[in-house]
Amino acid sequence: SKGTYPYYMLKEIDEQPAVMRRVVDAYLPADGSVAVNQSLLQALDQADKLYIVAAGTSYHAGLVGARIFEEMAGLPAEAYLASEFGYHMPLLAKHPLFLLLSQSGETADSREVLVNVKKQGYPVLTMTNTAGSTLSREADYTMLLHAGPEIAVASTKAYTAQIAVQAVLAKALGVFRKREVAKDFDLRHDLSIAAAGMQTLVDEKEQVKNLVAQYIPNQQHAFYIGRGEDYPLSLEAALKLKEVSYVHTEGFAAGELKHGTIALIEEDTPVMAFITDDVTAAHTRSNLQETEARGAHTMTIVSEHLAQPTDNIVLPDINPLLSALVGIIPAQLIAYYAALGKKLDVDKPRNLAKSVTVE
Ligand code: F6R
Repeated sequence: SKGTYPYYMLKEIDEQPAVMRRVVDAYLPADGSVAVNQSLLQALDQADKLYIVAAGTSYHAGLVGARIFEEMAGLPAEAYLASEFGYHMPLLAKHPLFLLLSQSGETADSREVLVNVKKQGYPVLTMTNTAGSTLSREADYTMLLHAGPEIAVASTKAYTAQIAVQAVLAKALGVFRKREVAKDFDLRHDLSIAAAGMQTLVDEKEQVKNLVAQYIPNQQHAFYIGRGEDYPLSLEAALKLKEVSYVHTEGFAAGELKHGTIALIEEDTPVMAFITDDVTAAHTRSNLQETEARGAHTMTIVSEHLAQPTDNIVLPDINPLLSALVGIIPAQLIAYYAALGKKLDVDKPRNLAKSVTVE
């Protein structure tokens, strides 16, 4: 039940610190080991590329996960849209392993890919939020997300759980491969930092509510921009805002906006920038200024160590590979309050279903 909450979406946003702790309890015992199936690690060790296949929010989590697998486990990894992959498969590596990410474990586009690649004899891992879901039953290996039931149509806690569980597996594989960088990756600690950071952000939701009132109500279009880790985060932030508030929102690589799409910026168009990456922070700020010079109403969502006095939302510092875990919280809240302000049914946006069982 949603208890005292007006909507499941807000309850599920608030649950994310607890979800991080559940992932820690399930996979990361205090002795520093990682509780992941050894035969899965052997299969991954033999793979030369990880194909992460998913839809919607799960695809956005896969984009974040791919970078963690490459960095921690040294395994080339790439995320693909299930609806495209099922019918237009790229030329595969010699020893591919497939990771199908799905909250529901029932998404038809993802299942089509699973059936297809199993037929070709390739190993398949699924990460789903429902034990016994179709995808988890039909795969060779499965890992549970531990997000708990997600009722709101817009996915929130499953996204952060998917990032955390992919990080668990990347850490386990990196350690299995005796990589120093993976041994040094204290994920148990990093996820508890993430949980504490998420808690701070959900406790400050009034601030986000006020920003939404200033930025969103009369707008038809909005943008999220970011570079590096902040680019896939921008895609997910944009999907959240558009699907629940019906404000047409695009997520953009900050440096790409000027190659055409900046033409859409008008007086007061909200442009919200994620700035968590040291190397590109200054570039993203200047891209944001370019939009401001064309009338945009700019908002900054910035990691603490990069923050300046005029920034709008400050994110607690965490391992940069995991920055989406805290970065997405204000964006989920922006989406929630934008929809609430328009008196929309936050939990059941028009035209959408919780699990999409047609291709
Ligand atoms: C967006 C959303 C959808 C799902 C997508 C995949 O908030 O919920 O984009 O992420 O339909 O669903 P699963 O993860 O169940 O395969």
